[in-house]
This record gives sequence, C-alpha cells and structure tokens, in this order.
Amino acid sequence: MRRGAWGAAAAVAAAALLQQIAARDTANATDPRIRIVGRGLANDAGGWVFDWPNSFLVSTHGAETVTASVSSNGWARLRVVAYSSTGGFTDGRWGPSAVVNVAPGTGEYVLVAGLGDDKLGGPLAAPAAEDVTILVSKMNEADYNEHHETDARVTLHSFSLPGGGEIVPVADVPGLPRSDRRIEFIGDSITAAYGVAGLAPCTARPWQQEAGRSHAALTCAALSAQCHVQAWSGRGLVMNYESEEPGTHMPEIERRVWGSVLDSPEWDFSSWVPHAVWVNLGTNDQCCGRKWPLPSFEPTLAALLLNITKRYAVAGHSPVPIFAAFGPVASSYGPQVQAAVKAANANGALAVAVDQTAIFPGGPGRVGCSGHPSTAGQFAMAQQAATSIGNATGWAVGPIDGDNPVGALLRWST
Ligand SMILES: *[C@@H]1O[C@H](CO)[C@@H](O)[C@H](O)[C@H]1NC(C)=O
Ligand SMILES: *[C@@H]1O[C@H](CO)[C@@H](O)[C@H](O)[C@H]1NC(C)=O
Ligand SMILES: *[C@@H]1O[C@H](CO)[C@@H](O)[C@H](O)[C@H]1NC(C)=O
Repeated sequence: MRRGAWGAAAAVAAAALLQQIAARDTANATDPRIRIVGRGLANDAGGWVFDWPNSFLVSTHGAETVTASVSSNGWARLRVVAYSSTGGFTDGRWGPSAVVNVAPGTGEYVLVAGLGDDKLGGPLAAPAAEDVTILVSKMNEADYNEHHETDARVTLHSFSLPGGGEIVPVADVPGLPRSDRRIEFIGDSITAAYGVAGLAPCTARPWQQEAGRSHAALTCAALSAQCHVQAWSGRGLVMNYESEEPGTHMPEIERRVWGSVLDSPEWDFSSWVPHAVWVNLGTNDQCCGRKWPLPSFEPTLAALLLNITKRYAVAGHSPVPIFAAFGPVASSYGPQVQAAVKAANANGALAVAVDQTAIFPGGPGRVGCSGHPSTAGQFAMAQQAATSIGNATGWAVGPIDGDNPVGALLRWST
C-alpha cells in the first residue's frame, strides 16, 4: 500500500475514533440523570466528593461498557450490582455483582464491560441494547479502621459509556430505595461491617468490609429506605478502642460531611431529615479492660440523643424516633444505654434502647472476622432493626434478600 493510502486510512481511523470519543455519553456524577444516596458535596466541575459509603444509581440504554472517572486520596472499593429491565441479562431481576478496586490517584475504571458480547463480558455481560441499571456503592468506611483522620476522600467525577449507548434518568426498577423513606445509622465497626465477609476464626482484612452487608444496608433494603451511615471502626462515644490513640470521638465525627477530614464542614442536617435514627456506640468505650462504666459515657449518650432530636425537630411533628442499640460484640454498656435513653426522653427525645446481645448466641455462623458480625450476624441484627423501625414508622417490613440490590449481593457475591 502506498504511503498516501496509509495516511488517508489513518486519518479516517482517527476521525472515527474522535467521533466515537465525542459521541460517548458522559454524565457528571451530579447530573440529574444520576441518583446519589449518602453524605458528600458537589465540586465546581459537577463531581461528587465523599468518603462515607455512598451509592450511585446509573441507568443506561444500549450500553457496551460503563466506566467511572474517579480520583481518590486512598484506596477504595466499589461494589457494582446490575439490573436489566429488558430481560435476558439478569432475567429481569437484580443480578450479578462485581468489585472494583480504586487506587490512590485518578483513573477511569470499568464498572461493567462487554455488555454487547456475552462471550467476553464475564459475569456482567448482557446483550447490547438492553436497558441496564447499575448500583455503584462504596464498600469501605470513610478511612478504614484508621486511628487518626487522614483525608481519604473520593471524587466520583463522571460516568461514561465509551462503547456507545446512552445514560438515561434512573429507571423505575424494583428494589430501589424510596426517596420518601430515610434512615440514619451512627456506629462503629459493627455498623461499618468490619470483618463481615468471613466466618470465625479469622482476622479482619480491609477487603472483608462491605457496607452493603451491614445491618444498616440490610435494614434499609427491608424497608425500601435510603440509608445514611456514619460509622468508624475503633471509635467510641467518649473513648476509642486504642487508648494510646486518642483521635476524635463519634459525637464529633458523625456531624461531618467527610468523616476523614478533621476540619470538614458540618453536614447540612436540614438537607436530609431521617424518619428514624439508629445508634450503636459503646463497644469501643468499654473495651480493653477499662474500669466500666466510664462516668462520662451515659451523660454523653443522652446529650447525643438530644442533639439528634433537636437537629431533626420539625414544628408540629413528634420527635424523630431514635433507637439506641447495644451488642452483639459486647454487652456491658447496656445499662448505661438504657439510663441515657431514659434521661433523654425526660427532656423530649423519643428514644428506645434495643438489646442486640442475643444475636451471636441466637444462631449459627453469626460471627465473622475479629469477633464482628458475619453476614448472617448482620442479617439477624437487621431483622430486629427492621421490625423496630417498621413498627415506629408504620412501614411494612419486606424481605431483606428480596429483589433489590442487597438481595442480589447476598445471592451472587463471592
Ligand atoms: C459537568 O459539569 C460542568 C460544570 O457544571 C460542566 O461545565 C460540564 O459541561 C459538565 N459535563 C457534562 C458531561 O455534563
Ligand atoms: C451536642 O451539640 C453541641 C452543640 O453543637 C455540641 O457542642 C456537643 O458536643 C454535642 N454533644 C454530643 C454528645 O453530641
Ligand atoms: C411498637 O411500638 C410501640 C409504640 O408505638 C411500642 O409500645 C412497642 O413496644 C413496639 N413494638 C416493637 C416490637 O418494637
């Protein structure tokens, strides 16, 4: 072939490539077509900056590949769960899932690939032209088990479809959280699902944490509710697990937009008013052979319950129901939780103490790694939480492992 023809062919190929790049549908994370659940803030470029386990819903039509452009200060893990409303790929249910590891720095990560080629696509392959909705959720807590806050924020800049197709407004598919149902969880490693993906005996590893298997996510699935979860392994109400690492305590951290940022702005509580709040703090306070009770524990918990009550107070409405749980990893803080609930209620809170100490002996396989609840343990905790919150809100309690992303995660994930 003559040189000129090569040049012409290259020019044609380059033009086609440019056209493909220009044609690729891209949506900023904060684009109205995308739905975000969780605490975070938009940046000037339309990206979403967060560190707590946030979730993103993206619906596509005729997509080949879905990518996310992500910057991260630390490592992060994203769970992707897919649903196909047009059938074949997932049999019209929430289906396969995959894990994407995000490294520090900036990169474009493939979330779902080869949708048009069922020989190539692996577990997330679907025929082209299907309507596919994916849920992308951060699996790990703000800054995994860290004793000191080090900025571990993640920026999800945008979602793209490099192989064609379009991003459409989030489809009305089953099992999505309802925007009119909101539940907030505040806790430690138990709520952050530290060590959930294993069975005792084992030592918890970062990859064994998954927010999607926490009783928080499971409870919200049973109640079709949106979840906000502020939970940090090793932190307590007035003392943290490692006494030689004073760090900050949960009453300060739980107010932050970004848990891992010491001077984080305070979250705008009016932007997301929960219908119920579930608190489980005390396991780290009472640890390590400390003389128990710590005198400040009970009054601080009562103050936290009152702070929560005040921040969500709506004139003419009864106070937000708060559930102050204790157990299942430790039980010695139960009496203080009960006393704090009583004190807060005497000052206008609507709190109840919930005993979860029977969870571990209550069934087999409920202990995961490093003494923390396994998936079965979290499941049992969630059944109790969903019953309590359903009772307080009047919401029907559905199956935790029904046709929703959490149910698919429990059925399909490894
Ligand atoms: C993303 O947001 C920025 C800032 O609002 C805007 O200039 C840009 O066009 C957006 N990009 C897309 C793909 O919508
Ligand atoms: C309660 O709120 C006040 C005012 O923001 C704050 O100073 C205090 O530390 C909070 N206490 C707890 C336990 O949340
Ligand atoms: C249901 O709520 C009522 C108060 O509205 C309470 O008295 C009762 O104990 C609750 N039951 C359960 C199972 O939580």
